[in-house]
Amino acid sequence: MSQFKRPGEARSSGDIDTEIDLALFGALGDLAQRKLFPALFHLEREGLLAPDTRLLGLARQELDVDAFRSRIEKALKTYVKAEELDREALARFLARLDFLPLDFTKPEGYAAIREWRQEAARPMVVYLSVAAKIYGDICRHLEASGSLDDESRVVVEKPIGYDLASSAEINDAIGAVFPESRIYRIDHYLGKETVQNLIALRFANPLFGTQWNQNHISHVEITVAEKVGIEGRWGYFDDAGQLRDMVQNHLLQLVCLIAMDPPANLDADAIRDEKVKVLKALKPFTDDMLGRDVVRGQYIAGTIDGRSVPGYLEEEGANRASHTETFVAMKTGVANWRWAGVPFYLRTGKRMPEKLSQIVIHFRQQPHYIFDPDQRELAANKLVIRLQPEEGIALEVLTKDSGLDKGMRLRRGPLHLDFSSAFPKTRIPDAYERLLLEVMKGQQYLFVRRDEVEHAWRWCDSLIAAWEDDEVPRRYPAGSWGPVASIAMITQDGRSWYEDY
Ligand code: BG6
Repeated sequence: MSQFKRPGEARSSGDIDTEIDLALFGALGDLAQRKLFPALFHLEREGLLAPDTRLLGLARQELDVDAFRSRIEKALKTYVKAEELDREALARFLARLDFLPLDFTKPEGYAAIREWRQEAARPMVVYLSVAAKIYGDICRHLEASGSLDDESRVVVEKPIGYDLASSAEINDAIGAVFPESRIYRIDHYLGKETVQNLIALRFANPLFGTQWNQNHISHVEITVAEKVGIEGRWGYFDDAGQLRDMVQNHLLQLVCLIAMDPPANLDADAIRDEKVKVLKALKPFTDDMLGRDVVRGQYIAGTIDGRSVPGYLEEEGANRASHTETFVAMKTGVANWRWAGVPFYLRTGKRMPEKLSQIVIHFRQQPHYIFDPDQRELAANKLVIRLQPEEGIALEVLTKDSGLDKGMRLRRGPLHLDFSSAFPKTRIPDAYERLLLEVMKGQQYLFVRRDEVEHAWRWCDSLIAAWEDDEVPRRYPAGSWGPVASIAMITQDGRSWYEDY
């Protein structure tokens, strides 16, 4: 007799087109527990999981279904807010779960996945929340065991590879089994509410449409700062470093969404074609730019929120001679008509004083200035797009300072759209909820196409190659905004990092 439950007899009414079987490899891993199961649970709670959708957890450990369900229940109790953990939804959700212990790299055992499918008519989504080096093995074994069909989709997590060559190898292995139209490469930043809003902001508002170019924008700043350090991931992180972990994917995706030309429509390929053009136009690094326009840092012990934290080399499992960077700041640009001469300043680091992701668009000053000379620096608009912690958009405008004694003194103030207070009833979904839903619907516009990944690597590779002989990264104390050199990098252009956090 089959070890698996049969799907519910009652079929969905047909108006939900998201019915799938989800096979989640790495179901007991950190990402699955922290993000994927909570996201799936929220979809359940919102009524967005189709009645017959089933979820199969796969991991090496020998667990039975009940023990697996208890593990997931425990994870949900840890990572979902108590007031959102409604009991009926929880019971419904747990009842969808099956579990299969499996050694992913060996073909034996995969037949059980085919058996679990029971020739179900709904598509199967395979989610690989495992190390990228075994993506190819898993895809091959799934195919050889007859578990896949013409509708099966695969979802893969970053990092895809270590450089262009290794990423091409992994993409080839996945591509030998799945066509590009059924490969969903996750960059979870693309699922964030404000990141999606960038598309609406830029292409639905004529105000910005006409201003979005080098005639009106002087420079662009992107900061992605995290308070956390390495969080027990030293082994992975030390091979990657902040450039591969954050810049190659998340920051470059933000650059693409800021810099791309308007797509002809919202189709996945129309958007991705425009993003690829930006990646191809990114200025490659030359030797003379390295010392001046790029700063690598590594945190040493310091204090965050009044608590002492160890340095990177003192973290658990650390190789004390490591030169891996935990911070990168760089000045780059997009060499095309729209952006010629507009610097893009990027910085990202671990163990910074705040968790902060924001994009600041600095507009140019008026051609002729008529107010107090000592306020001249104020006189430009800034558009601040905040991804986290509080999602929102603020446009800094100048008005007259009020009061009889102020004359025509200027005052800077925000026109502010704070999503949580402007739309208080709307819960802002986690990026993974949106991304999982899009996979279920079979829509790819929030996922990264192979050529995007590869162009991003090509650009990073030019930097990585130059770093190979580099010495020690610059030190910065945990709880600071990075090495002093990253401030000098921008002040040498007469500018400063936006500091209204
Ligand atoms: C991941 C990186 O992709 O993004 C992590 O591997 C990082 O190192 C995380 O902490 C940051 O994501 P978020 O959504 O918290 O900004």
